[in-house]
Amino acid sequence: MIKFIKVTKEYGRPEPALSDVSFHLVKGQFAFLTGHSGSGKSTALRLAHLAERPTHGEVRVSGFSSSRTSRRDVWKLRRKVGYVFQDFRLLPNRTALENVSFALEVIGSSRKQIVPRAQRLLAQVGLAPKAGAWVHELSGGEQQRVAIARALASEPLLLLADEPTGNLDERATRGIMDLFWEINVLGMAVLMATHDLELMRRHPKARVLELDEGHLVYDSAEKEQPEGRPDRSPGVLISDLAGEPEPAQEREI
Ligand SMILES: Nc1ncnc2c1ncn2[C@@H]1O[C@H](COP(=O)(O)OP(=O)(O)OP(=O)(O)O)[C@@H](O)[C@H]1O
Ligand SMILES: [Mg+2]
Repeated sequence: MIKFIKVTKEYGRPEPALSDVSFHLVKGQFAFLTGHSGSGKSTALRLAHLAERPTHGEVRVSGFSSSRTSRRDVWKLRRKVGYVFQDFRLLPNRTALENVSFALEVIGSSRKQIVPRAQRLLAQVGLAPKAGAWVHELSGGEQQRVAIARALASEPLLLLADEPTGNLDERATRGIMDLFWEINVLGMAVLMATHDLELMRRHPKARVLELDEGHLVYDSAEKEQPEGRPDRSPGVLISDLAGEPEPAQEREI
C-alpha cells in the first residue's frame, strides 16, 4: 500500500526533513505517524501522496512509484488515495453537499449519480441532516466530516490524514477517530499524523511510527527498532506512551 525505501527529503538545509526512512504499510492497516513538531510527519505524508518527490530513495504507493510516475500521471494516484488536512480545506460559500458533489464531478462521476452519491457519502460520515448547510454554518467537527466524505468520494483504498483532529475539541476528535476506525474496518488503510498521545493511547491496536528530527525512531510493528541514535531510541513520544503514568496523574486517580 505504502512503501518508503530509504527515503531522504532535503529542502536545501543542512538537516534533511526526512533521513533514510523505510517502512511498509500493508493493505487495510491503521497506523499513526507521530513525532514532535518539525519531525517530518507532513513531509512524509506529502511524499506518500507524490505531492513531492524524495531527494534519495523511493516511495511506492498503490502501485505508483516516486521514481517512475510522471507528474502528468499523479492525478491517477490521487483517485486511489484520499487526503484529509488539519484545516479541512473545504470550498467556502458552498454547502456540505456541494463540496462533496464537486469532488465527484472532478473524478468524472455521471451527472445523474452525483447528488445521490454525495448524499450517501454524507450519510456515511453521519452528516445527512446537514447536507444543505453552508460550510460556515458547520462546526469544526462537522466540517472535518465533510472533508472526509470528500476524500472518500473516489472510494480510495488508502486515506492519508495530516493531524485531522488538530483543530477539534476532545469530543469531536473522538467522533472523527471512530469514523476513521469504521472506514478502516471496511478495508481502507489509514496513515494518520498526530502528536496527540491520548488519542494513540485510546487505540492501542493501531500501528505506531515515530519520527524524530526526520529519523524513524520507532515502529511498533518491528521487533527490532530501527538503528537510531541510542539516546533517541525508542521514540521520544512513545516512551511516554508506553511508560508508567506520571506520578501527578497517579495522585489524581
Ligand atoms: N517546503 C519546505 N521548505 C523548507 N523546509 C521545509 C519545507 N517543508 C518542511 N520543511 C522543514 O522540514 C522539517 C519537517 O517539517 P514537517 O512540516 O514535515 O514537520 P511536522 O512533523 O509535520 O511538524 P508539525 O507537527 O509542526 O506539523 C521542518 O524542519 C520544516 O521546517
Ligand atoms: Mg505537520
